[in-house]
This record gives sequence, C-alpha cells and structure tokens, in this order.
Amino acid sequence: MKNSAALRVVGQDTASEITAAVEINDFHVWFDEAPVLRGISLALQKHRINCIIGPSGSGKSTLIRSLNRMNDDVEGYSFKGSIHFDGEPILRKSVNVATLRTDIGMVFQKPCVFPKSIAENVLFGVQYVKKLSRQERLHLVEANLKAVSLWKEVSHRLHDRAGSLSIGQQQRLCIARTLAVKPKVILLDEPTSSLDPVSTRAIEDLMLELRQEYTIVFVTHNIQQAQRVADQLVFMCNGGVIEQGPKQKLFGNPENEQTRKYLNEEYCDC
Ligand SMILES: Nc1ncnc2c1ncn2[C@@H]1O[C@H](COP(=O)(O)OP(=O)(O)OP(=O)(O)O)[C@@H](O)[C@H]1O
Ligand SMILES: [Mg+2]
Repeated sequence: MKNSAALRVVGQDTASEITAAVEINDFHVWFDEAPVLRGISLALQKHRINCIIGPSGSGKSTLIRSLNRMNDDVEGYSFKGSIHFDGEPILRKSVNVATLRTDIGMVFQKPCVFPKSIAENVLFGVQYVKKLSRQERLHLVEANLKAVSLWKEVSHRLHDRAGSLSIGQQQRLCIARTLAVKPKVILLDEPTSSLDPVSTRAIEDLMLELRQEYTIVFVTHNIQQAQRVADQLVFMCNGGVIEQGPKQKLFGNPENEQTRKYLNEEYCDC
C-alpha cells in the first residue's frame, strides 16, 4: 500500500491509528448542475464494515458509485474534490478505470446474473483479467462459491443457468463473481433489499466474514441491519455527512440530534 495515510478515528476508544482504505476529501457532485453531494469528507476504514445510512435521495448511491467511477458515464455528471484509494488519487482522467474496478468491486441492489451457467458467472470478470487453465477455472469456481457458502447448494449443478437459482442464491453468486477478481474493497448498495430474512442473514454473516480480508462499504436503509453488521457508521442527509463514527457511538451517544432521530426511526428533518 503506497503513501497510505494513517487516520485517527473520531470516537475510537483506543489510541490506535487505523489505516484508511479510501479517503474522500471535500467531494461534491452535481447532476445537470443540481448539487447532489455537498462537500463529503470521509475515511473508509480498511477491513471494516463501513455502513452508510440515510434517507432516500440523500446521495448514498451517488457516493459509493463515485468510488469506482460508475458515475463517469452518467450524462450531466460533474464533481469537485478528491478521492484516494490506497493513497493514490482515483478521479484523475489518467486512472485506468478497468483496473480500479478490479480493486473496488460492486454488488448492486438486485442480483444481476448473466444469462450463463453458474460456473461461467463466477468466472465472468476474472477471465478478462487473466488467462486461466481449466484447472485454475475449476479451482476459482469452487473457492469463490465456498467463500459465499454456496458451494454445497450448487456443486452438483454448476452448469445450470444462474437464473435458475433463488434470488438470495443469485445475490451470493454475484458476490462470488466480485470476489473472484480479488478486489480490495467491495461496495454493496442495499444488497439485501430484495431478499427474504433467511437470505438476508446469510449475506450479513458473509459480510462479517469477508471484512477479515476485504474493506466493505455497505449501504442500507435498514437500521437494525446497520446495528447488526456495521463497524463504522456514516449518516448522510441531503447530500452531506451529518455524523460518522463507530457504530456504538452513533447508536449510543450521537452528537447530532438528527442522527438520534434517524436511528430511532423518527422523522428526520435535516
Ligand atoms: N443519473 C442521475 N441524474 C440526475 N439525478 C440523479 C441521478 N442519479 C441520482 N440523481 C439524484 O441524486 C440524488 C441522490 O440520489 P441517490 O440515488 O444517490 O440517493 P440514495 O441516497 O442512494 O437514495 P435511495 O436510498 O433511494 O437509494 C437524488 O436527488 C437523485 O434524484
Ligand atoms: Mg441508493
């Protein structure tokens, strides 16, 4: 990791220095000149679940889509400010966006499997990154399906269409596809919003395991879910960060009245 900045985390109860995987500095976004993000500054911590919450339209998706340059292709998009990943600026024109997206992978709200077999879905991204032998392909399929606890359920039907899986299984397959390219950061934008409670818990357990090796940035509307899985919590409203810090601090002793209201599921008028 080059030039990484060690940041002191506000509210951290030990004096430890935590290394940020992603640093966002005074970041603004406009769509067609309408302001959507208004000067966001955040340090997303390595090997933690960084959970972003906030009302609909507050800019959560716009923010995480900016981290792997998904907004670049949106007509009318403009920005100001900087984002660094592993100490390197990622918003410069010269940055190789394909490489950036292998480092910072994304899982969307609705599972988005390709009309191919289960095995081909796992290999979909990684085969563009490197040429693989048959043995390597078999290994990658098994290892990544095991990583998302799907192997036992699908090992006997790897050549079936991915679309034949349940929605919860499809979402885990999408995560396996993201893991196969060996990202360092995984962005998850409301990954459980279309899932039943059992599949939701499976994804939550998976995130808790994955944070040992990956940095997770996770958007959810579900306050209980944030309480279950977040390490760090970021509360966004109206294009700005209202409060950020360790989960225990925001739930137990928030500094901002709007944070308290939102986390208590009261009307928030920020
Ligand atoms: N492609 C776009 N063109 C124009 N405006 C956009 C575009 N994408 C998002 N916006 C606007 O930016 C604002 C923030 O949207 P965003 O999707 O980031 O919010 P969000 O917090 O993710 O909301 P939700 O919780 O409903 O998913 C909204 O006002 C939205 O209408
Ligand atoms: Mg969104």
